[in-house]
Formats: sequence, structure tokens, C-alpha cells
Amino acid sequence: MSESAKPPSPGISRTSIYVAAGRAVGAREPDPSVRNPDYLAERLHGEPSTLALDDPAVRALSLSYDEAMKDIEVVNIVRLMTIRTRFIDEALERAIGGGATQVVILGAGFDSHAYRCGELLAHVRVFEVDRAVTQALKKERVNDVLGGPPSNLTYVPIEFQHEDLPDVLTRHGYDPSQRTFFILEGVTMYVPEDALRATLRFVAAHPRGSGIVFDFVYRAMIDMISQIDTTTAPEAAKPFLTRFLDLIRDEPWVFGLPVSREREFLGEFGLELREAFTIGGEESLERYLTKADGTQVGAQVIADAMARKAQGAQAAGQSAPAGQAPQGPQMSPERMREQRRLMAYQMAEAWRA
Ligand SMILES: C[S@@+](CC[C@H](N)C(=O)[O-])C[C@H]1O[C@@H](n2cnc3c(N)ncnc32)[C@H](O)[C@@H]1O
Repeated sequence: MSESAKPPSPGISRTSIYVAAGRAVGAREPDPSVRNPDYLAERLHGEPSTLALDDPAVRALSLSYDEAMKDIEVVNIVRLMTIRTRFIDEALERAIGGGATQVVILGAGFDSHAYRCGELLAHVRVFEVDRAVTQALKKERVNDVLGGPPSNLTYVPIEFQHEDLPDVLTRHGYDPSQRTFFILEGVTMYVPEDALRATLRFVAAHPRGSGIVFDFVYRAMIDMISQIDTTTAPEAAKPFLTRFLDLIRDEPWVFGLPVSREREFLGEFGLELREAFTIGGEESLERYLTKADGTQVGAQVIADAMARKAQGAQAAGQSAPAGQAPQGPQMSPERMREQRRLMAYQMAEAWRA
């Protein structure tokens, strides 16, 4: 695409601010066994009011942890981010333990691995790749908070849609012959399919033992988002849906993997799925959010919200006039389970086969 034909670039990534806030709140959890390990998120996030992002997760940073975690929207983003951060941290450790000497963080936003995993990455080159405008703010924050970046880190500005990742990386001293680990956290949904496919081909062209960790949604979720009509949405869901659409207005979600075909999709590029799981599924809750006493982070708030939803549905059913179908969300349990499967947020780690 020629320079003149390019659409205007989005400003500072608001989604990167949002997810950093989710990590920052999760890092305040008192129990270390279920805490988000990103202790730098709050300091890198900085003063949110300048970024005009009015969101419960950002506002939560001005409240105590207990107060903030009474809001189901805060609970949801904290849980999601804690699972995501902890799994990615584990995958990164596996990669370095397996001999990776380069780490590429695509769509880095306020990612803190280069700063908080100094010991692990001491002999590794790290490349943070992001849109220039978001990267500029990140560099400012890093200078303010940490006095500057570590010497093994290189910032690489890019626009994935219009620039060639291998070329841009190489211009910044990247060596494609080295065993490399790629982190795509909160990124695949923003990247058009052809650009994501090119990235996966690039990952797979690295030496054996190279790998990638990423989160993703299924195509069904992208289709659903494109059809959201906040005027006809259930009253209770309207505030969240309106905020979500506003959050992604400059960074639309455009790509989802074929439903339940992650292994085959990655296989097309010669990447072997090591593990994939649903964020918020039983296994992930058990692994990352369950305390020694068996309780889970935010579980009571979620149970209360579900009970209120069930009561609302029941009341809507009871108030239907005789002989008419009940109003409100009357879904069979099977349909609900299928719906949850299609709309689930997923996490995956794959290796060059
Ligand atoms: C949801 S944020 C995730 C940030 C970070 N990885 C994290 O999880 O905290 C999405 C990131 O992808 C970047 N991004 C989205 N589309 C992009 C594109 N076309 N080119 C370059 N970066 C892009 C944004 O600038 C932003 O930093």
C-alpha cells in the first residue's frame, strides 16, 4: 500500500492501557499463589487520566484491591490477565531453558518482561515491536520509572499491516538464524489474517526449538462482535458492550482462528501445538487462580452475578402472558455451553516442529 493510500494511524493503543491496568490490579492480590506477577505494570501504566480511558479497570487503580474486586468487570479482566501473564511467564522460562537466545515481543504495549525478568534474560536479545506512537509513550514511562531500558533490549517500531516484519527486525540487528521465542500477547485479534499467517510462517522459518506463545479468539467471536447492536442488547449487558466497542474503536478485532482447529491451523506452518486451553476454563482456574484453601480469585462476585442473571431470566419467564413465549434470555444448558465454547478466550503455545 502506498504512503498516501494509508488510513490515518491510530493514536496510543488504548487496549494496551486497559490490559496493563488489569495486570496492575491483579498484582495487588495479597495471596502470592494467585497474584499477577507483573509488579511493574502499575508503575509503567502511570497516570491514566491523561489517556482519557474511562474504564472500571483503570478506575480500579484508585481504589483498594478489595473495593475494586467487588466489580465484576474488574474481576473478569484481573482473572484473564493473571492467567495470561502467568502462562506466558512459564512459556518464556521454558523457551530460555530450551536454549532460545532471542525473544521478540510483538505488539508489546506495556509488556514488562524485558524489565522484570532481567536475570532470566541476561544473555538473551529482546526486541519489543509495536506501533511507534505507543512505543514512544512506553519509552517515556520506562525512562521515568526505571531510568532507561536494559542494554539487551531493542525497540522496533512497526505497522504490521504495511511493513514486513522480517525486514524491519533485521534492520534493527535481529538474527533470524538464532533460536527465538515470540510472544504475541493480546495481538492476534488485531492483525489481519494475511499478516498473522506471514508472522507464523516467519516463526516457523527459525531453527528447531524456536516457539511462540499467543492468545486468540475463534472466528465466531469476531462475527459476533461485528453484529453487536447496543440498542437491542439486554439492558444489563449494555454498559459493558458499549465500553468494549469504544475501547476497540481504533483497534478493531478482525481475526479469529477456525473453531477448535488450532492444532491444524498451526500445523499448516510447521508449528506443533504444545498446549492450548480456554482462559477461564476449569483447568486454568485450578492452575492459576485457586488458593490453598480452595477458593478462587473473584469467584464469589461471579457467582453472585450469575445468580442475579438467573433470577432476572426467571422473573422474565414468569411475567410472560399465558400462552406466550417467555421474554428474556431463555437458553438451554447445551446451547449455553456451546455458546461459551465459541466465545471463549484461548491461550496457546507452539514450537517449530
Ligand atoms: C491489547 S494491546 C496488547 C499489549 C501487550 N502485548 C499486552 O498484552 O499488554 C495490543 C497491542 O498491539 C499493538 N498493535 C495492534 N495492531 C498493530 C499493528 N497493526 N501494528 C503494530 N502494532 C499493533 C498495539 O499498539 C498494542 O500495543
